[in-house]
Amino acid sequence: MARAFAPGKCILFGEHAVVYGHPAVAVAIDNGVEVSIEESERWTLEGLPFDSSRHPHISHIIDEVFQYDGPSLKMEVKSSLFSSAGLGSSAALSNAMGAALHSHLKPERPLDPIELARMGHSAEARAQQGRASPTDTATSALGGCVVVSGEQIEGTRHVFDASLTTPEGEREWSINVVDLPEDLEEAWLVIGYTGDTSPTGKMVAGVASLLKEEPGLEAEMSAIDRITRAGLTALSAGNLEAVGMAMDACHERLQRLGVSSPALEGLVEAARQHALGAKLTGAGGGGCMVALTKNPKRVAEVIEIAGGRPLISRLGAPGVHLLEN
Ligand code: MEV
Repeated sequence: MARAFAPGKCILFGEHAVVYGHPAVAVAIDNGVEVSIEESERWTLEGLPFDSSRHPHISHIIDEVFQYDGPSLKMEVKSSLFSSAGLGSSAALSNAMGAALHSHLKPERPLDPIELARMGHSAEARAQQGRASPTDTATSALGGCVVVSGEQIEGTRHVFDASLTTPEGEREWSINVVDLPEDLEEAWLVIGYTGDTSPTGKMVAGVASLLKEEPGLEAEMSAIDRITRAGLTALSAGNLEAVGMAMDACHERLQRLGVSSPALEGLVEAARQHALGAKLTGAGGGGCMVALTKNPKRVAEVIEIAGGRPLISRLGAPGVHLLEN
């Protein structure tokens, strides 16, 4: 049997703007997706017959990326992420599936997280009508703290480049990593799920048409760019108060892009009482918010009281890896 785990991700700064080449900063989180596969007499997923049309990310990896035509597989998927909620569950699924299949087919060859991130990005782009940045897949593959941007930002370490033809034109991204300072141990992320799912493709398409109708909103993208760079400087220096302020400022700009929701607003407001900063994370429109705090238990409690489902994580969990049987 081959088993692999890939973490979910949480975007601290720059969602939506990153689709247009502005920078985004994301961290891998403790929760993620585990996939196990073994040969079997029939194709099954979770014990039921596998219907490839209902699982586009899995079938993309099996059929198009690996062009697998071997014996039928029995596949098990365990996820500790809320799905369609901004935590990169589909990227984690692609990466874990790709890693498990790689280990099943080529057990002697070590995993290549960059190759997995590229495979996952092509699956995401297909699922999001051609508009997807490599943020989710790269963060889940590489782990730690990942900076995705049109050009490399000073103080980051370059890992690889990605490109995509989107409906708005050709896009190129530089994918980089940042070492988080050791004294960040007292900082926690508390993610709050609104309970409303929100398809990323729809939210990204909504922002694209809003920008076409109101070109003035480009200013919000530039503001997010500026906030993201300031947030990254603060994070690299371990200045948690400034990271929190940048998160609050980023949320305000995302509100103006029309991607917040009353449920997200309720959770962000509740969490801010005990947090250094809070914002929606991912595509918005529902899904999740995230708070940065030194008091994760208290923030989780207020999120629960405000009607959300909390999840506590460190900043920067390890990336995709194989698991022992
Ligand atoms: C989704 O996690 C983040 C977005 O910026 C879309 C993308 O980067 O592909 C909204």
